[in-house]
Amino acid sequence: MSAIQTILVENRVFPPSEAMVKSAHVSGMEAYRALYEESERDFEGFWGRLAKEHLVWAKEPTQVLDESNKPFYKWFADGELNASANCLDKHMGTPVEHKTAIIFEADGGEVTKITYRELLDRVSQFANGLKAHGIKKGDRVLIYLPMSIEGVVAMQACARLGAIHSVVFGGFSARSLQERIIDGGAVAVITANFQMRGGREMALKAIVDEALALGDCESIKNVFVYERTASTYPMTAGRDKTFAQLLEGQSTDCPPVMVDAEHPLYILYTSGSTGKPKGVQHSTGGYLLQAKLTMEWSFDLKPEDVFWCTADIGWVTGHTYVTYGPLAAGATEIVFESVPTYPDAGRFWQMIERHKCSVFYTAPTAIRSLIKAAETNEKVHPKNYDLSSLRIIGSVGEPINPEAWVWYYTNVGGERCPVVDTYWQTETGAHMINPLPGATPLVPGSCTLPLPGIFPAIVDEAGEELPDGVGGLLVYKRPWPSMVRTLWGDPERFKNTYFPPEMKGWYLAGDAAVRTIGDSYYRVTGRTDDVLNVSGHRMGTMEIESALVAKTDLVAEAAVVGRPDDVTGEAICAFVVLKRPVPEGDEAKAIAKELRDWVSKEIGPIARPKDIHFGENLPKTRSGKIMRRLLRTLAKGEKITQDTTTLENPAILAQLGQTY
Ligand code: WT7
Repeated sequence: MSAIQTILVENRVFPPSEAMVKSAHVSGMEAYRALYEESERDFEGFWGRLAKEHLVWAKEPTQVLDESNKPFYKWFADGELNASANCLDKHMGTPVEHKTAIIFEADGGEVTKITYRELLDRVSQFANGLKAHGIKKGDRVLIYLPMSIEGVVAMQACARLGAIHSVVFGGFSARSLQERIIDGGAVAVITANFQMRGGREMALKAIVDEALALGDCESIKNVFVYERTASTYPMTAGRDKTFAQLLEGQSTDCPPVMVDAEHPLYILYTSGSTGKPKGVQHSTGGYLLQAKLTMEWSFDLKPEDVFWCTADIGWVTGHTYVTYGPLAAGATEIVFESVPTYPDAGRFWQMIERHKCSVFYTAPTAIRSLIKAAETNEKVHPKNYDLSSLRIIGSVGEPINPEAWVWYYTNVGGERCPVVDTYWQTETGAHMINPLPGATPLVPGSCTLPLPGIFPAIVDEAGEELPDGVGGLLVYKRPWPSMVRTLWGDPERFKNTYFPPEMKGWYLAGDAAVRTIGDSYYRVTGRTDDVLNVSGHRMGTMEIESALVAKTDLVAEAAVVGRPDDVTGEAICAFVVLKRPVPEGDEAKAIAKELRDWVSKEIGPIARPKDIHFGENLPKTRSGKIMRRLLRTLAKGEKITQDTTTLENPAILAQLGQTY
């Protein structure tokens, strides 16, 4: 039976090896407990100490936590620093200066390496180019770039000037881009002519043009284009410039602009339970502290490590563990342009072998798809590659099922590398709950224990704390330095979403969790709001519903739910009422395709519904409320066993069972 399908009951505990304990930054459970207790005993002293030890300040902070305007917490508020200086300048004159910062591997396999010195020069030159175009501290700059050295450079260059970047994942559509440009009031877009994925050229600049043409984007004064490929593309005179034009004549010396610790480093949009994405705003000082710190705590980063986080810079994982954390920690890191299945599903393993990667960090969905590939094609099984350079392997983005965990541990980690299952969110900025490789005994499927300084709890709907063994809502009882500061332009939504009154001022994560009796290990089971996790990407069901009903010529009503999927974790299922009779057969297939293409165009290919069901109505209570519980059962293809007596229109269920 397939390793992704077997229901494995895994009761084993995997303690760290003696060698790992000996050499780790946090060496053994005693050391972990000592740190945790320090953070409990002297919360502010603990964070204040770490901020001084791990960051380079232009002005050292005298304050740690400012709680005077809860829940708008401030950290290290009177300190001044620059994020880019903390990632680059601070390494100059140290052995890191001439160390490789980035090993870039392109879609087709070409490798480019760049040292810290070279990276600093490029970031400085880029920042000077932006400055010459009037971009200054506090301006918002939208970045829509593929995975590339240029992407990291663009983000770091913004940080150098104190400009606030807003990176949009290359899989989002023109409309999503427009929405983010307007919401953030961006003054410039940094993009590429094309991106390369699996040997194919995909337009980026054309999507930017389309977004700007949708209207209300007058704030954009400049579009800077990285010419990733030699193919031609349209340029708008006056507004658009190539990178070559941007950088021409610019010096490689650009003093970093020192900002307050609370100055926004970036905005990153994520899905919530309403149709409108949330602009999660992160700070400079607190964010950077935990980005750097978790490189050492969670990944036990050593100077000789080759670190590889496979996440795209369009997601928070790519911000914290590609652009900021590894560079702040002086690591050599791999940046990968392409996908794990090109030219075949052995790509990750081949790259680990080729670059002697020692710390590897990826998502359960990738692991599950590679398990599937290895089961059907022996040649791409990790056993065919030399993965002996690996020391630590990580997981992020969704719960990792024990079957996938054990496969990863055995076949990739060679039963030697701890699997660091990191639970966190866009809003937390950095890791929150995960094992430490040289300390925590591992249990497959559990993210284990909170990091020092992090105080989670599990509560019921009324905010009452629950004991071990009882599932409930995950909250954090104390703030932490890298937490979201507000939602861009919407402080009310920030308060209501994360600090609802019944939670007593605790941060509500939006996830359900349970702790094991005995060891108090956390297991996060999934979202409690209308947010789906598809291949580790957060998608709001309301967002997809809004997109569907925006197809006004065809759609009268739509409801979207998730169903479990072997590879992607969850799959998107849309239940649609058309403005015409319920279609069947080929007609239904054609309309389903039209709707999928429409959602791709409205939000992006990542939001494309997997299943579409048609009905002349949706199951509703007599008061008109859609019964999503029933839709979830139908989405799974299961028989309805729930009580349907409160249903206005029970006959609808049979109709909705059919999937297209
Ligand atoms: C949501 C956050 C974390 C950065 C990438 C995703 C789920 C994430 C885990 C994990 C169980 C996880 C949660 C969380 N999630 N990591 N290790 N175990 N669930 O960031 O897009 O903000 O999504 O992803 O549901 O709330 P994000």
